[in-house]
Amino acid sequence: MQNNPKFNFPKSFLWGAATSAHQVEGGNHNQWTVWEQESARSLATQAAHKFDDLPGWSRNKRLASTPANYVSARAVDHYRRYKEDFDLLEKMNMNSFRFSVEWSRVEPEEGVWNAAELAHYKSYVTELRKRGIEPILTLFHFTLPVWFAKKGGFLKRKNVDYFVRFAEKVMSELGSSVRFVITINEPTVYAGESFKQGVWPPNLQSTRLLLKVLRNLAYAHKKATKTIKSVQSRAKVSIAHNSTYVYAGDDAVLSRISASVTQWALDDYFLRKVYKSCDFLGINYYFSSRIYGYRIHNPNRQLSDLGWDLAPENIEYALVRLWDKYKLPIMITENGIADEMDEMRKPWLVKTIAGIHNAMKSDVKVIGYMHWSLLDNFEWAYGRWPRFGLAAVDYRTQKRTLRPSAIWFGKAIKHIRKK
Ligand code: BGC
Repeated sequence: MQNNPKFNFPKSFLWGAATSAHQVEGGNHNQWTVWEQESARSLATQAAHKFDDLPGWSRNKRLASTPANYVSARAVDHYRRYKEDFDLLEKMNMNSFRFSVEWSRVEPEEGVWNAAELAHYKSYVTELRKRGIEPILTLFHFTLPVWFAKKGGFLKRKNVDYFVRFAEKVMSELGSSVRFVITINEPTVYAGESFKQGVWPPNLQSTRLLLKVLRNLAYAHKKATKTIKSVQSRAKVSIAHNSTYVYAGDDAVLSRISASVTQWALDDYFLRKVYKSCDFLGINYYFSSRIYGYRIHNPNRQLSDLGWDLAPENIEYALVRLWDKYKLPIMITENGIADEMDEMRKPWLVKTIAGIHNAMKSDVKVIGYMHWSLLDNFEWAYGRWPRFGLAAVDYRTQKRTLRPSAIWFGKAIKHIRKK
């Protein structure tokens, strides 16, 4: 690709990486940390049963069977090492970075603002700006302050006002340096895992509650957006939606109907509620689903360490579909692969960049690409063994090392950005 003259992205295109506070910072105290303490032992015990058919299981067995794997603890210590981590962005010629502000740090008790934490995030954003890196701020990336969770979190509509107040506080502190704001990361994934699948706190399994939380999250997004704009009128706001591209594997009527119903349920059910109050669409793309009849049968030619079917090229069709339907500029707010050995990440990137480029040639307006993730990080209920980082992190020493694919990616960015 480096020598491929066909790839020419606009100079203003945002090339970057993404993280979230709880997955990298270390030292948090929120609803997740409480749950990690309660669940670590049972997650470790279940690991062999759940993961032993995954491709890299023999490598990860020991770590995945250890309770400490499921406790975020120091994570990758990004809270203290952020400057070193921003150096990595510069090394990869990136001009943007997506991160989240941890609500439980800023408002550890209801209505009590922690000035030192707000100052920390201010310096954090200033440091990015100093390096010419566009900050992309996320307000809610799966973790809630304990006090907010105790009040029922997003299950209660009236609690939305607490989130809006937090958004207002963060914007009044950081807003003058931030142009792009994501209110909520993956509302459908958060609601699905926590209230329907029951695998994330508060571990509920109810379709009624799932739908209720989704409605409240849509309301939270809309209300927060108004407040964000009242503080900072030039802010560009969106959610980050996890989009699966769903397609029929044959032209049987049943396959086609199931594919379009599934696509609607996964994407459009929620996006319809919020897109009118989005300035752009933040899209997280990881996989697609091929449907035969009413079942998902992916080609499974190649799987990531998490057993996810790899179809990076389908990002093109996901982008075209979302653009046709919503006519909003799209930022890819996450995209990446768990690949500890770094054998699949470069081909993944090559196909992804080609897919984005093709979509742009078909007039889809794509404004940026954030790779998940800058660093190896705490992968929620899986803990720390899945390795998504462009930089590998040695959890013992906290040493960061850019993987070969990341070095390649950095050179590619330099080459394909229009002079
Ligand atoms: C989430 C991240 C997560 C990544 C990889 C996305 O669903 O926003 O927090 O680490 O996918 O699973």
